[in-house]
Order: sequence, then structure tokens, then C-alpha cells
Amino acid sequence: MANTSENRVLELSFDKLTENEMIGIQVLSENFSNNDITIIEEKNRLLVQVNKVDIDKLRKLVLDYNKNSFLKTLLKKILDIKSYGIKENKRWFTGYSGERKVKDRKDKEKSRGKFYYAKDNQFSKTNNHFPSEFENQIICDDSEKVLKQLPDNCIDLVFTSPPYNFGLEYDNHKDYLNWTEYFDKLFRIFKECIRVVKYGGRIVVNVQPLFSDYIPIHHFISNFFIENKLIWKAEILWEKNNYNCKYTAWGSWKSPSNPYFKYSWEFLEVFCKGSMKKNGDKEKIDITADEFKEWVYGKWSIAPERNMQYFNHPSIFPEELARRVLKLFSYQEDVILDPFIGSGTTAVVAKSCNRRYFGIDLSNDYCKIANERLNLQNS
Ligand SMILES: C[S@@+](CC[C@H](N)C(=O)[O-])C[C@H]1O[C@@H](n2cnc3c(N)ncnc32)[C@H](O)[C@@H]1O
Repeated sequence: MANTSENRVLELSFDKLTENEMIGIQVLSENFSNNDITIIEEKNRLLVQVNKVDIDKLRKLVLDYNKNSFLKTLLKKILDIKSYGIKENKRWFTGYSGERKVKDRKDKEKSRGKFYYAKDNQFSKTNNHFPSEFENQIICDDSEKVLKQLPDNCIDLVFTSPPYNFGLEYDNHKDYLNWTEYFDKLFRIFKECIRVVKYGGRIVVNVQPLFSDYIPIHHFISNFFIENKLIWKAEILWEKNNYNCKYTAWGSWKSPSNPYFKYSWEFLEVFCKGSMKKNGDKEKIDITADEFKEWVYGKWSIAPERNMQYFNHPSIFPEELARRVLKLFSYQEDVILDPFIGSGTTAVVAKSCNRRYFGIDLSNDYCKIANERLNLQNS
């Protein structure tokens, strides 16, 4: 029997069943249903097919029968199985994932090509130090210009939300360019971001689906990164639960003529340069097991920022959003860049999570606010 997730069989070899093993088998059959754990005796081997197991219950049996090495070995082998689902307090080793039902998944993946679109990239694998003069600085200028001063491959993580060109009232950025002009500028800045991010580094872009002009910015942005050979790693749905958006456009109520869609969420598109794997010092990981478990489920429920008026900025994202991105995608002491830093949220969170930061914004006023927020952390 092949040991796949659909058919999880553990082999425990034996010449002749010992008394110890017989007791172990007896205990198992009294405490676990045949559907959960099945024991199969073959010529000179003992096969245990595990489907779903209440691990706490098995642990308790191991303690109760602490002289029984068969139960001990079985528990160890079961704990060594790393992929499983959790349901009804049991680890489900079979039938827990639709995806895993694909036969020979690895071989198929190999022949089709994993992220084939990013394969023939020309990225250098040599990473560089981040220049110390920019470390933990907020610079007031155009990011396209500022980023040109950085060497290639020196940033661990870019996290940003660009201006969306919806016509928001920013201090001195014109948020109503014609769309080609807008995308040309944005993509020149993103091209610089790709250049400065390290091999194995990440770029995470928070972007909102657009309503009024019917320009799917998140798709345009994703296509841009894919065309520029980045690996698309994930799309996180940020559920804001802000149901106060308007219900219909005039004349579209209860009519198929032109139903109006409303969105209470935004997206985070996650890209990697060269490799999905980002090497780092294990000691510098600060995400907890519970955070990891919760956050790798790609739908995050986080209330929108409530202090926009207070910070006098029209589109601030909440600190919790940045905290999750930073802890999930970077190590402590990594360098985090936000080329549209606005009121400084990314930098504030980077500082509180023991990362280094570099932020850029066109507006003097926003840079001032960002620095004030950063200074507040010292007091
Ligand atoms: C969506 S806001 C970012 C808000 C930020 N995430 C926060 O939490 O405060 C976009 C910011 O980009 C800035 N901006 C627009 N064009 C820029 C450019 N070329 N260079 C630098 N900043 C720019 C705007 O001034 C605005 O503050």
C-alpha cells in the first residue's frame, strides 16, 4: 500500500508478534474505531493505517501503558506525519483536503512547470547591504527618484498601498490622472521596487477593487509583477466589514439592467523575487504558532483605520494589517520599504516589531506626521 495522504499506512516490522505488541494492538482496538485506526497483520510486518486520530487520547494511553513500546513507537510515527487536517479534535490524515486527491501531484507539477512565467528571470542572487544613511529614515520626495539611489537587492520586504487614482484629497499628490499616465508612473516606481528587493525578498501590495471607473487595478498590478518575472505567492483578502457603503446605483435596484456591486474588502497581492523561500536566522522569527495558524488562512478580518482624521490622511491602513504582513513575511531586523509611506503606518509597525524601515512620501505634511508617530513610540 502506498503511503499517500489518501492512504496513510505506517509499517512496523516484526518477526513474530511480541506480548507487548499484542497488548498494544488490543488497547488500540478497544479505544479507537476501525475507521480511525486499522491494524493489518501481514506475513512478517504489521501495518497500521491511520485515518483520523485523537492525539490527546493516544498520548494518554501511552502514559497509562508506559511500558508499552509499541504504543510509544506508534505515537511517535503518527506525530512525525506533518500534513493533516484538524476536525472534531482529531488529526485527519486522509480525506482532509480536496487538493491532495490529485494523483501524482508532484510529477504533474514538475511536468507542467511551477510558476513557469517567472522561470527565465535574470535576477542576480547576490544580495547587498542596505545603505546605513537611509536606515530608519522617512524621506520626503518622489519615490521614483529616491529609489534610484539604492543599490540592487538590498530590501527584504516592500509593503505598501499605492495611491489608487480614485480622486482622493491628498496633500500634494494629484489622485485623478488619466489612467495610462497613472499606471506608467506607478509601474516605474514598482520597477525600482523590484530592482531593490533582495533575491528571495517579497513585495506585498495592498490594493482596493475599484468601483467608479471599472478599472480592475489589482489585476493590472498583478499582471505587471508577473510580466516582470515575480512569483505570485498569495492573495490575501482583507475583510473590513464596513457595510456602510451605499447599496445601489440609481435605477439598478432589483433589476438585472445594471446591478451595482459593493465591496467591504481589499486585497493584498504578495510577490516573491526569484525564490519563494526567504532565508533568515531562525532566532529572528517572531510569529507565534497561533498567529501563524490564523494568518495563513488567507482571509483577514481587520477593522479599517479609525484615526484618519486625527492623522489628517485620507487612506491609512490599520497597524494590525502591517503587523501581520511583517511578522508573516519577514524576520526581525530585516529592512522594510514603503515607497508610499503616507502617515507612516508601515514604519511605525516595523519599528515596534524590531525591523528596520525606510519610507518615502511626496508630501511634507505626511512625512511630518509619520515622524511624529515614530517619535511617539520613543516617549
Ligand atoms: C494610499 S496612501 C498610503 C497610506 C499609508 N499606507 C498609511 O497607512 O498612511 C498613498 C501615499 O502615496 C503618496 N504618493 C503619491 N505619489 C507618490 C510618489 N510619486 N512618491 C512618493 N509618495 C507618493 C501620497 O502622498 C500618499 O500619502
